Amino acid sequence: MIKTGNTNEFEAKKQLDIINELKARYDSELNKSGVQKTYHIETFGCQMNSRDSEKISGILKQIGYIETDTEDADFVLYNTCTVRENANNRVYGRLGYVGRLKKSRPGMLVAICGCMMQETTAVEKIKNSYPFVDIIFGTHNIFKLAELIKTRLDNEEVGRKQSDRMVIDLWKDTDMIVENLPNDRKYPFKAGVNIIFGCNNYCSYCIVPYVRGRERSRNIKDIIDEIKSLVDDGVKEVMLLGQNVNSYGKNLNPKASFAELLKEIEKIDGIKRIRFMTSHPKDLSQELIDVMGASKKICKHLHLPMQSGSTRLLKIMNRKYTKESYLDLVRRIKNAVPDISLTTDIIVGFPGETEEDFLETLDVVRKVGFDSAFTFLYSKRTGTPAANMDNQIEDDVAKDRFDRLLSEIQDSSARAAGRDEHKVLEVLVEEVNSQNEALLTGRLSNNMLVHFEGDKSLIGEIIPVYLQESKGFYYIGRQL
Ligand code: SAH
Ligand code: SF4
Ligand code: F3S
Repeated sequence: MIKTGNTNEFEAKKQLDIINELKARYDSELNKSGVQKTYHIETFGCQMNSRDSEKISGILKQIGYIETDTEDADFVLYNTCTVRENANNRVYGRLGYVGRLKKSRPGMLVAICGCMMQETTAVEKIKNSYPFVDIIFGTHNIFKLAELIKTRLDNEEVGRKQSDRMVIDLWKDTDMIVENLPNDRKYPFKAGVNIIFGCNNYCSYCIVPYVRGRERSRNIKDIIDEIKSLVDDGVKEVMLLGQNVNSYGKNLNPKASFAELLKEIEKIDGIKRIRFMTSHPKDLSQELIDVMGASKKICKHLHLPMQSGSTRLLKIMNRKYTKESYLDLVRRIKNAVPDISLTTDIIVGFPGETEEDFLETLDVVRKVGFDSAFTFLYSKRTGTPAANMDNQIEDDVAKDRFDRLLSEIQDSSARAAGRDEHKVLEVLVEEVNSQNEALLTGRLSNNMLVHFEGDKSLIGEIIPVYLQESKGFYYIGRQL
């Protein structure tokens, strides 16, 4: 069934017109100079940002830029993350460097976008300390990039001085989804596909809802059409993206569910593997578990962020599940998909975390047996409820817990490693190994890496490989 949503076709048409106008301008410059303009994007943060960078790249290529792998380029763009404080600091470091570079490159444009730009303080700091930046935009108006470049160039043409040329376009929130703009996908055989934007969960430590806005689901039809056209282009694996994919469809009219969407994608011929990221434990339904159990295509990997094992702390984090319900969820998933690989995110040092709370976290790690986990030291984000809690944890206490957690995770990964040794499993071959050119690298359904000898022509194929030896984080395999 086709669901109605909030796709904006008028805006897409307007932006395509501006892209074409800029293309004509760049083509005529190219005819005169004989030199094609280059661009470089530095992407920070999560898969949502990586996917946004593909869209940005698509627009820039359509205008007439070619990609280059250093910041010594005509257009440099930083797509930022602000989930933790150190993410911001890395961006300021890069800006210092590119500012010096810009002095020796007349006509160079520097843009900065992404989650950090949705914070007023970060934008103020850039305006004051990095006035050479040309364009600032946020997470809601990426589709407008060509229009922003045009405005910046027009500012220069009418003779404005550098300090008045900066174009700042920030939207607090929007329900607009603009489909069918250019796209530049990184891999020909696997692709990320947005299914839901934004987040409504307001976990008390997290800044994402403030910088990515309210939940907006794409129409089922738009998603299915995109995946079908990806298949036509040779894509075999899709990764469905959202801050909380289990929330998919709640704001569509009529409502849809993530399980329903998965069933529709499963029917598409040519799609061999379906992945998704991220699942919130509070919304992971039994229906979804059943769909995963019955599916031939959904990969045997579930990233299920737990954040903490303490029910008391989970409540203050506003996660809306308990230690027991998380463990029960894991039990039901393992029942339905016995060979599933579970991974997670954990925060250490959340305000008020006691030694007892922390021991509960270690207990869940031991009980679940995660294949791997991303562990984070709590980072205070201004504007979130947790930043105002008065029982912040001392750095050395948090660091000590972090090290103990890491060692527990390493034990858990070591226990999980090697369980498929001596089996023959399907591998999606992804690339030539970066360390050893004689080897190819691919992934199992459960996301584990496999290195094996083979010919480059296999890249993009799904082939059976004998898993000869486990090396902990990867297998050495042999092609059959
Ligand atoms: N939407 C996903 C995760 C998005 S952010 C989810 O809900 O699971 C990725 C991870 O960063 C989170 O899972 C959390 O573990 C971590 N994180 C978010 N805010 C943080 C903060 N203030 N300090 C430390 N880690 C944080
Ligand atoms: Fe952040 Fe929670 Fe939303 Fe994930 S679910 S993005 S942790 S607020
Ligand atoms: Fe970072 Fe934004 Fe993703 S804050 S983690 S890039 S949603």
